[in-house]
Amino acid sequence: MDIFHTIPAVRDFVRQARARGRVVGLVPTMGYLHEGHLELMRQAKKQCDIVVTSIFVNPTQFGPGEDLATYPRDLNRDAAMARGVGVDAIFNPGVEEIYPPGYSTYINVERLTEKLCGAARPGHFRGVATVVAKLFNIVRPDYAFFGQKDAQQALVIKRMTADLHMDVEVVVVPTVREQDGLAMSSRNIYLNPAQRQAALVLSRSLNKAAAAVKAGQRDVSKIRQLVVDLIRAEPLAEIEYVEIYSYPDLEQTKVLDGAALLALAVKIGRARLIDNIIL
Ligand code: PAJ
Repeated sequence: MDIFHTIPAVRDFVRQARARGRVVGLVPTMGYLHEGHLELMRQAKKQCDIVVTSIFVNPTQFGPGEDLATYPRDLNRDAAMARGVGVDAIFNPGVEEIYPPGYSTYINVERLTEKLCGAARPGHFRGVATVVAKLFNIVRPDYAFFGQKDAQQALVIKRMTADLHMDVEVVVVPTVREQDGLAMSSRNIYLNPAQRQAALVLSRSLNKAAAAVKAGQRDVSKIRQLVVDLIRAEPLAEIEYVEIYSYPDLEQTKVLDGAALLALAVKIGRARLIDNIIL
């Protein structure tokens, strides 16, 4: 497995693979890999001949006061894990490689980004869309893999690739969870044991909502309230948002009459955790 730090080096690698007729997959990450990331890489390996994973903690998607400085980083550990699932190359650029001085172009996906994490983290998806577009231009993958854990992000990336006629197929992989239901996240490392236990309220409340829908509940505000009440009962958890929108359009809906996204963001200690389920 190769590790590249510059754009010309990774481009060269991909060019040679493509010249041999290889199908190229890209798995963009911010590193500190876990089973969720590895599952994306395994799926990529299944569908592609050559898999490149990028590890880049992208500064433009962090707001002021967010955890850019403390975001966990461990390239040696990540490299061993990526190698273990058959990744062919890691692209690990420095910030100046991606954002050289004078850089002034950003991608703004409208509408979809106005709600949920977009409303809670102004500028976040502008940073995500921009860096993903850059990675697509650098690597030029045939397929790119994203997790359903970040449901809105996956929708934003799909919108961007369609709107800008990017020649890449976006594949979305289901959320990978710990045995007890907690969605895997690099940020779970911020949780102490009591907070880790409290964090179970996210998946538990999503499952409660799914069970209510299965039992016939169609009233969106009632389903939402059920989730809010459960999370409020957990003293260590502080709700940032709990929302239900039609899926995949993310339009307001009062009654469930098709697929809907139940998404939530909850602060526990210094960790901001998100999770979601399709109803
Ligand atoms: P990061 O949080 O490192 O996640 C990288 C990819 O892994 C994303 O597509 C995310 O949805 C997926 N992922 C994370 N946890 C997952 C889980 N438990 N199950 C399945 N997939 C999971 O998301 C980002 O980085 C960045 O915004 C990025 C797209 C790399 C742009 O900087």
